[in-house]
Order: sequence, then structure tokens, then C-alpha cells
Amino acid sequence: MSYNPYSLNGKTILITGASSGIGRATAIECSKLGANVIITGRNAERLQSTFDALNPNGNHMQVVGDLTKQEDLELLVSSLPVIDGLVNNAGISFTKPIGFIKKEDLLHVYETNLFSPILLTNNLLKKKKIAKNGSVVFVSSAASFGCSNANSIYGGAKASLASFMHYCNKEITPVKQIRFNAIHPGMVQTELVENLTFTAEEIEKDMQRYPMKRYGTPQDIAYSIIYLLSDAASWITGSSLIIDGGVLNRA
Ligand SMILES: NC(=O)c1ccc[n+]([C@@H]2O[C@H](COP(=O)([O-])OP(=O)(O)OC[C@H]3O[C@@H](n4cnc5c(N)ncnc54)[C@H](OP(=O)(O)O)[C@@H]3O)[C@@H](O)[C@H]2O)c1
Repeated sequence: MSYNPYSLNGKTILITGASSGIGRATAIECSKLGANVIITGRNAERLQSTFDALNPNGNHMQVVGDLTKQEDLELLVSSLPVIDGLVNNAGISFTKPIGFIKKEDLLHVYETNLFSPILLTNNLLKKKKIAKNGSVVFVSSAASFGCSNANSIYGGAKASLASFMHYCNKEITPVKQIRFNAIHPGMVQTELVENLTFTAEEIEKDMQRYPMKRYGTPQDIAYSIIYLLSDAASWITGSSLIIDGGVLNRA
């Protein structure tokens, strides 16, 4: 076998939101690097399509479920073997100007983008389903830094998710030797972006703000997630990685 410090050979990785976009690309790329992949999402047909695209050499599994439903979340956790990696990726987009925000908007976005990844992580830890030296990646967003329009609820949920990651690193890592990191993508060409109410002209104009003059691809994000899952990142924990084609340009 050729030398590859980023190999996921023999690792079992759970990826939420794998029926689409970043989660789908991450699942496929992880499987190509030797991982046994467990994928989950609500839409059975789209999840099956990801499953069919996985490297057939692995021992893969799919579980349909809505992570905002306690019973689905518990069923997922109980059906899992011990895993080496968890990618908390499932999420929804939401834009609304601050003056129009209602409590139900907060609940809607926070349930999927914050409560579910926290509860999934905590359930897996309680049931000892994450192996020693395991790696957990939270998919936050560049929006957590307050950079996008009418995105306060979404950005707030994603900022809280990154903050939760830091507390996992403080409380859990010293005891269990599990690593926790967050990634903060800029705009990535997926259904999530297509579902926003921007016109093609607005999107083209927005892309010009990016030094790389394009949005990210799901694979651009998948490769960074894979790095954090791999043993090549075995001394990286408690970190936030911005993957945004340079748009934030943070010093
Ligand atoms: N695209 C971007 O520009 C961008 C930028 C920064 C961060 N992100 C973050 O990256 C992650 C993936 O986004 P994406 O762009 O790949 O979006 P996407 O293509 O819309 O995929 C979202 C995934 O989340 C799943 N999902 C949503 N609600 C769920 C629920 N209640 N239970 C279980 N699964 C659920 C969806 O599956 P089903 O519909 O089958 O349930 C789908 O697989 C999200 O957390 C998003 O906030 C995206």
C-alpha cells in the first residue's frame, strides 16, 4: 500500500446530512480513502443515491432519520458500532432581517443546526460510541463571524456550535483523547445555497468578492474534513478552520 498520512483506512466514520452537498461529497471521499462510512439523512431516496456512490470495498451503512426527533436520534445511536469519526454536518439555511425574527424561527434553525449536533455528540459520548483517539468535526460556517446578509439566526447557531466544540475540547479531550474541531466554510455550491432567494446575477456579483472568484465546491470542504478526521491531524483539537476562498481575509 502506498504512503498516505491522510488515509482513513479501517476507520468507521458517521456523517450526518449525507444525502446532499457537503455531507454527500464527504461520505464519498471518505469511502475512497478506505473508511467504512455510516451515512444519515431524512430523504431515503437521496441517501440511497449517496450510498450507491460509495466505494464498494467498504463496509458501509445507512440510517434514515430526522435528527431533530429524539426517537430517530436515539435509534441512530443504538444502531451504531463504535466509530472513529463523526462529522456533524446536517444543517439548514435561513435568512431573515433582525426586525422580523420570531421565536419559532429561532427554534426551527437552532433545533437542526445546534441542538441536534450537540445532542448527537453527547448521546454518542454517553454510550461510549466514539473510540479513543477519535475525531469529531462540527460543520459551522463563515456566517458565524457575522459576515453575511440577514443571517443572524443561522450565524448565531453556527457560532454557538463552534463554542460547544471548544467546551468538548476542554471537558472531554483530556479524559477520552477524542479530538474536536470546527470548520467554517464560506459559500459552497450546494442545494443549501440554491434554496436561498438570490438571483443568478446577485450570486455572480457575490462571487466576485471572493479572491478566488468562485464559491467552494463540496469537495473543497470534504478534503478539509478528511484532514481533521485523519491521523495526520492527531495534534489538532479545539481548532476552527476557515475554508472560504479568502473572502473573510482574517489576519
Ligand atoms: N453551502 C454553503 O454555502 C454552506 C456554507 C457554510 C456552512 N454550510 C453548512 O454545511 C452543512 C451542509 O450544508 P450543504 O450546503 O451541504 O446543504 P444541503 O445540500 O442542503 O445538505 C444538508 C443536509 O442536511 C440534512 N438535514 C437537514 N435537516 C436535517 C434533519 N432535521 N435531520 C437530518 N438531516 C437533516 C439534509 O438531508 P435530508 O434533506 O435528506 O434530511 C442534507 O443531507 C450545513 O450544516 C450547512 O449549514 C454550508
